[in-house]
Amino acid sequence: MSTATTPGPDRSRLGQVGRRDVLKLLAAGPAAAQWAAAGPAAAAVSPGGVPGIVKPLPPELFTIRGTNAETNVSAFAGTGRLTPADRFFVRNHTSTPRLGESDWKLTVWGSGLGGGRRADFTYGQLRSLPPVTRTAFLECAGNGRNYFDTQQGQPVIGTPWTLGAIGVARWRGVRLADVLRLAGITDRAVDVMPRGLDDDFVAGGVNLGRPRKPLPVAKAMNDVILAYEMNGEPLPYDHGFPVRVVAPSWVGIASVKWLADIEVSDTPLSSPWTTQFYRLFGEAYPPEGSVPLTRQTIKSTFELAEGAVFEAGRIHHLTGRSWSAAGAVRRVEVSTDGGAHWRPAKLRDTPHRDSWVRWSADWRPRHAGPAELLARATDTAGNTQPPTSVHNTQGYLFDAVVRHRVTVR
Ligand code: MTE
Repeated sequence: MSTATTPGPDRSRLGQVGRRDVLKLLAAGPAAAQWAAAGPAAAAVSPGGVPGIVKPLPPELFTIRGTNAETNVSAFAGTGRLTPADRFFVRNHTSTPRLGESDWKLTVWGSGLGGGRRADFTYGQLRSLPPVTRTAFLECAGNGRNYFDTQQGQPVIGTPWTLGAIGVARWRGVRLADVLRLAGITDRAVDVMPRGLDDDFVAGGVNLGRPRKPLPVAKAMNDVILAYEMNGEPLPYDHGFPVRVVAPSWVGIASVKWLADIEVSDTPLSSPWTTQFYRLFGEAYPPEGSVPLTRQTIKSTFELAEGAVFEAGRIHHLTGRSWSAAGAVRRVEVSTDGGAHWRPAKLRDTPHRDSWVRWSADWRPRHAGPAELLARATDTAGNTQPPTSVHNTQGYLFDAVVRHRVTVR
């Protein structure tokens, strides 16, 4: 655990978008003006009525889960490979701070740096570094958690996500490696811990501080991005404006939003997000839990509402998506009879690592009654979705084939 004092931006000043910024944003066009118009940080309330989330959350696109909003998997239908920001899931430990980029700065500090052991970067300085663009999925470690309970009869704690705590976006920003080098990272550095600017997270009456999760230096220097754009637009407030971490293929908590500071340490770092949470606890694991979670797993979803109704005797065009953190998806099979028979789905994209592949399969149900639709992915690393997932008490990394219940009439 870090014992050093924690420098970083003055949080009291960060709620305001300066007047000059508003004028600049207005000049930049309507989309930009919209962020400025949202005004100072305060209790954000989306038009859908969720305290803490800024963007609208219409019920046809989102299911509200506490401070979070899950994308309805049916809302992926008709979207391309990229998930539009207005239907991208939101996972907030507390609430979205509405920050202005002119007062924002990133502080990199700690024993793993040489020289003055601290470097500050303004938003403008970050934007002047060589940009990098990368398509990657962002997925909560607990995506699919609901099915431990509903499909396997194993209760778990945490937000009961179905399969919509994922989205794929085109992220643009700078390499974390470039920033760390400019800050003077040394060979002694072992861990790097980005921290958010949102409020302290209180769990069970204990203040755990602001969300932060250490990354090993090897990951930080490899493919991690400090992103300022999502799908060609500046990051929306809810997704980390002005700058967030994007750690491709890793559990979503590694992609810290509203980045404030990054500790670079020559000794291993930890936080409640690696000791209490985001570790596997349960019968299959040692008492102290597994090692902290890193990579995501493999999953598939139909783009269908739970309980969808189909007409017997007609051909229906089923669509869905599959993804894996270990490699590109190589094959997707579907079953329309509860898993008795399987056939290949037609892949509609060239599969890529860290993205999903869209697929389709036609189905003509013969008889009225309940039916179960299943989809099973295999990736280039040889992983295939299993029939059941190994239980852990917090319901992380669900990877089993989901039985999607529908009705034929
Ligand atoms: N960063 C901060 N500062 N605060 C948060 O609550 N939530 C994390 C991560 N980064 C979080 C954060 C979790 S658990 C996930 S899954 C992703 O952000 C969700 O990103 P999104 O809300 O942009 O979809």
